[in-house]
Amino acid sequence: MTKDTILIIGANGQIGSVLTEALRQRFGEDQVIPTDIRKPDHHVGHFEFLNVLDAQRIAELVDEHHVTQIYHLAAVLSAKGEQAPLPTWDVNMKGLLNVLEVAREKKVAKVFYPSSIAVFGPTTPRVNTPQYTVMEPTTVYGVSKVSGELWSQYFYTRYGLDVRSVRYPGIIGYQSLPGGGTTDYAVDIYHKAIQHLPYECFLREDTRLPMLYMEDAIRGTLELMDAPADKIQIRTSYNLSAMSFTPAEISLEIRKHMPDFQVSYKPDFRQAIADSWTQSIDDSHARRDWGWAPKYDLPSMTEDMLVHLAEQYQTAGG
Ligand code: SER
Repeated sequence: MTKDTILIIGANGQIGSVLTEALRQRFGEDQVIPTDIRKPDHHVGHFEFLNVLDAQRIAELVDEHHVTQIYHLAAVLSAKGEQAPLPTWDVNMKGLLNVLEVAREKKVAKVFYPSSIAVFGPTTPRVNTPQYTVMEPTTVYGVSKVSGELWSQYFYTRYGLDVRSVRYPGIIGYQSLPGGGTTDYAVDIYHKAIQHLPYECFLREDTRLPMLYMEDAIRGTLELMDAPADKIQIRTSYNLSAMSFTPAEISLEIRKHMPDFQVSYKPDFRQAIADSWTQSIDDSHARRDWGWAPKYDLPSMTEDMLVHLAEQYQTAGG
């Protein structure tokens, strides 16, 4: 076991909660410090309250626990961000700058910062979107992520801070629920299906978006963080890809297991956000630089999701 101590900011979120468990298994329970602005529902073990806008508290936690790595996951996502653009900018941007600045001052060895497909916008090539391309996002979330990528690169080139990042597509997992995103439908739809309920989708049936299964997301993130520093050629953020599908295609896949599953479509304001993003991603740089390779596609993900959710609902119900 290594002597690394990991601070996770936003540990209760969709990705943070799963990443916390993965890091605990890896580094040991005592070496992982999960933090969030609210306490987790079913948490056992160490937990600290932390608002990412409180730079002093971040610094105290880093000192107290001799933190060597920070995973900074706290952010307001695309759909929720549009309800309150300026507060979203504060959380996403000031939060990141607090983390980067504390990491620099305290000589934290490595920082992970998630970016997103939300960095792309209507002027970006939509199919097989290249690593280096036009980035003119139309959501405040996307604007904050583009800026965050550039700040991460700045801290690397200016101060040598080892910040690493990937542009997550929509993340789908059975372990946790997303909140406030545009890709959330692709998790919700499985929960409805497994409960034998119909699903009303807030995107049009032909809206194609890039997606990634949680297991691949977590493994890929840990692989990125494990890679030798000289392999990390991109210090803004790596494109990451696994699959792309539409609501109609995921419904069809679910129906192979649950033939009675019904989906209707009632697009809302999130349709415009989805329409501004790209449909599929070229992740050849991540593959080449640090060996990224996803394992799950739509059929294998669907099978795995339904098996795990059936277990969860059975346990909860019985
Ligand atoms: N899943 C995010 C969202 O929909 C994209 O990063 O906002």
